[in-house]
Amino acid sequence: MKLVKTGGTAVFLGLDLGTSGLRSLLVDDTGKTIGAAEAHYDVSHPKAGWSEQDPQSWINALQATLAELRANHPNEMTALRGLGISGHMHGAVLLDSEGAVLRPCILWNDTRSHAQAAKLDAADKVRALSGNIVFPGFTAPKLMWVAEHEPEIFDRVATVLLPKDYVNFWLTGRMCCDLSDAAGTSWLDVGAQDWSEALLQASGMHRSQMPELTQGSAAIGTISEKRTAELTLPEAVQVAGGAADNAAAACGVGALSEGQGFVSLGTSGVLLAARDSFAPMPASAVHTFCHAVPETWYQMGVILAATDSLNWLSRLLEQEAAELAASLGDSISAPGEVRFLPYLSGERTPHNDAQVRGAFLNLDIASDRVDMTRAVIEGVSFALRDSLEALKSTGADLSRIIAIGGGAQSAYWVELLATVLNLPVDLPDKGEFGAALGAARLAISAVTGKDPREVMTPPAIRTTIMPRTELVAAYGAAWEKYRASYPALRSLK
Ligand code: XUL
Repeated sequence: MKLVKTGGTAVFLGLDLGTSGLRSLLVDDTGKTIGAAEAHYDVSHPKAGWSEQDPQSWINALQATLAELRANHPNEMTALRGLGISGHMHGAVLLDSEGAVLRPCILWNDTRSHAQAAKLDAADKVRALSGNIVFPGFTAPKLMWVAEHEPEIFDRVATVLLPKDYVNFWLTGRMCCDLSDAAGTSWLDVGAQDWSEALLQASGMHRSQMPELTQGSAAIGTISEKRTAELTLPEAVQVAGGAADNAAAACGVGALSEGQGFVSLGTSGVLLAARDSFAPMPASAVHTFCHAVPETWYQMGVILAATDSLNWLSRLLEQEAAELAASLGDSISAPGEVRFLPYLSGERTPHNDAQVRGAFLNLDIASDRVDMTRAVIEGVSFALRDSLEALKSTGADLSRIIAIGGGAQSAYWVELLATVLNLPVDLPDKGEFGAALGAARLAISAVTGKDPREVMTPPAIRTTIMPRTELVAAYGAAWEKYRASYPALRSLK
């Protein structure tokens, strides 16, 4: 496709629709940052385990961030040619036949449908077709819950959209879903890359209720005249299919091929490996999803409380999380005696256990806040080692990883992770390399027609942290003890 340039270099927007806010990143056609704006919104918890959001709050955040970018970068915004979006996965936006929202979006971290998830997970061929465990947060069990508890709403569901796809629908009028996000619904045959009649039937749904499947790096349409006028944008801005948040982050760090991956120390923790082929292993509780670029997959272990565990301790001890982490110094010396199991919100990989909860073990009368902080950071790192072992069991082979997310700012944590995983950990230079950049890169590919692999290159690396080889065995032994703690803890539940 020919790139039309007016008013200088073409520019692109990458939107990162997160659970607590939307970040809009403006970049040039090489992906270099021009500006960014952020707006926040709430998550409501009407009952224990429920987690909902009003899709209108995403639109309000989009309008606010674009207004800010227009005010700060008026000339560049006139050269806007394409937009891509990354979104939190698994949420269910239910639309009636007029495209109106029927109820608040039920989010990825809502656990109300755990019974429906267990039922669907046990049904014939469901794991084989979807390539994954049906985790309680996935989309299909949410619709089963709505059918049981809100039948009058269920009867009016004409289409189910994922959160980012609702924003794309609002912008373009098209109801689409890219493969990386579709893979987290439990309705997609992830190997065949198509909606599965068997999976839809198993959860009481119909293909006509599914949006059209697209590639994340392909254009789905242009922003409608109405929205173009409302948002004061130039004409004919193209919109890419976009991606699920972890796939978009992988596009941001250039993890597209076998051997490439990242560890993300955010609220939750993710260890992700790009895969050239579809190699599901649901029993390992590894997630196997389509990537946002054609004929590519990725696998990841997900732990539910990474920096969330440290933030929890920080609230209890009334001391900033960064200060707690800093109290450990910059370098590891030996595993601590106190042990922490980070299952504060249950766990996905490797246990698939929504009921288990966290624990401290081996507390001593002399244990202090430093011991507890070390235990928490070790516990999260050991949980990621569990994910590495689970990934290895699928055939994924990581020889180094890029670290992203807030926890990667702690030198101690990164050295610990390198040693516990026994892998070199690359730390990128300052700058953009997350999901918003990945989303903008999808837009660049969609508009210019460039090969995504040319556009989505790895970031410059500031430094590589090597495993402390003399400590690998000691941390390996500590991880073995950590690993033996889960069955014991579970047996007491
Ligand atoms: C992935 C997952 C999270 C959410 C929220 O399975 O649940 O990555 O997308 O970030």
